[in-house]
Amino acid sequence: MNFKRIAVIAALATSSLSLAADAPELWRKHCKSCHGEDGKAKTKTGAKEKIDDMTTEAWQTKWTDEKCKKAIVDGVKDTKMKSFKEKLSEEDVDALIKHMRGFKG
Ligand code: HEC
Repeated sequence: MNFKRIAVIAALATSSLSLAADAPELWRKHCKSCHGEDGKAKTKTGAKEKIDDMTTEAWQTKWTDEKCKKAIVDGVKDTKMKSFKEKLSEEDVDALIKHMRGFKG
């Protein structure tokens, strides 16, 4: 097998991998700008919009999977939290909710 062929196979392998939901990647791309890398919302928008710190016990208890899902899919009324219905698949949303559970503690 020559080098060119290996390069083509490597390119194909990485492009098909990126189709799968990768929560940290999705978070960085769609959510981090407001909610911060760690979910604490220590961002410009976070301060301005008084976005909740997702790492607290209280937040994690209040925001059940179901409520989070609704917020992400439909958006939160009268806030900068817009609907991600067009941008994320159902699998993406589920993966992001799991990712947010990792902010706890
Ligand atoms: C333009 C800024 C912005 C972006 C981008 C954004 N959010 Fe939000 N988000 C907000 C604001 C503002 C609120 C409502 C304020 C608050 O936290 O109470 C909110 C609320 C939420 C809530 C409801 C819980 C809560 O604390 O109010 C969830 C869940 C959530 N966002 C998840 C996400 C996820 C997941 C993404 C990425 C797919 C995302 N957000 C992207 C600004 C943003």
